[in-house]
Amino acid sequence: MGSIFSAIGRGINAIISAIAGVIETIVSAITSVIVTIFRVIEDILCCRCCGSRRRSGGRRGRTYDFHFENLFAGNMPIWLVTGSSRGIGLEFVRQIAQNGDEVIAAARNPENSEALQILSKSFPHISLIKMDIDDPESIKTAAQEVEKILQGRGLDYLINNAAKGGNDKPSEIDPERFFSFMRSNCLGPTLVWQALIPALERSTRPEGPVVVNMTTGLASFGLDIGVKNACYSTSKTALNMMTYKKSKEKPNMIIFIMDPGWVKTDMGGEGAMLEIPFSVSEQYKQAVNATSKDSGTFKRYDGAILPW
Ligand SMILES: NC(=O)c1ccc[n+]([C@@H]2O[C@H](COP(=O)([O-])OP(=O)(O)OC[C@H]3O[C@@H](n4cnc5c(N)ncnc54)[C@H](OP(=O)(O)O)[C@@H]3O)[C@@H](O)[C@H]2O)c1
Repeated sequence: MGSIFSAIGRGINAIISAIAGVIETIVSAITSVIVTIFRVIEDILCCRCCGSRRRSGGRRGRTYDFHFENLFAGNMPIWLVTGSSRGIGLEFVRQIAQNGDEVIAAARNPENSEALQILSKSFPHISLIKMDIDDPESIKTAAQEVEKILQGRGLDYLINNAAKGGNDKPSEIDPERFFSFMRSNCLGPTLVWQALIPALERSTRPEGPVVVNMTTGLASFGLDIGVKNACYSTSKTALNMMTYKKSKEKPNMIIFIMDPGWVKTDMGGEGAMLEIPFSVSEQYKQAVNATSKDSGTFKRYDGAILPW
């Protein structure tokens, strides 16, 4: 008798969970559609005000790639961006969310970034998670959080953006400094990718999931940039080789390195050449248009192929 009641109880639980799941999907789809409609209206109004022509994808030079069919099907492309508290990472989150995709914004201390907090309140499809790429335990915990957010869905894009910068010469380097750059700029992004392989392999993106490892022109032998930023450049050159190895190990993924250009962030400084939104909108296009031909390549933000 007891087992009959317990079976009935389990049945009722399953029905309630299924109904809750359906309601959650519907609410999430409706919210996303409303946000997207507001963005389209804003886009149209903006174009009228500034008299600019609406290009396929562009609002003030930004790419817009709406996914109405995915919204209704409950499978908008899903991105994860590391180092999203400021600079290039924060702008990636903003542009991805504005384009209507879902984004998991990972940051060392998301609660300390006012800009990220404000952004996540404006877009229901931004989830914030804590991730310190210097700490393997933090990466593992963050990957578990990601699985909770994904609920069995796949991760379509990983933007491995977080990094540390700094200037030095080879003659000045001490072991601690050297290893701290290698940890943040090569090992960190590699462990992030490793922890997210199962999620990436569930991606339903037709051409395969995209992994962008953010590098720098300073890490290129071919560009011959000189003595500066020795630890930073060396750690990014190591990341470049690791990216090449990843692309060989996982031909089912599209994995490449990207130089964002010299950008006006805390790392790039005021004197840099590129505005953050411009660099990111160009990089965004490289990611969404990526095919298997791009795997294992060294790209600049505008799609130019750089020498290793
Ligand atoms: N700006 C340029 O001119 C330029 C040029 C070439 C390449 N890049 C590359 O572009 C990427 C973004 O650079 P950016 O200019 O936006 O730099 P940024 O303004 O200095 O921002 C760096 C980001 O990385 C995060 N970060 C650093 N260490 C971290 C850690 N251990 N765990 C988690 N997050 C961490 C920072 O978080 P916190 O706020 O917690 O510190 C911040 O969000 C980097 O990979 C950089 O090497 C930039």
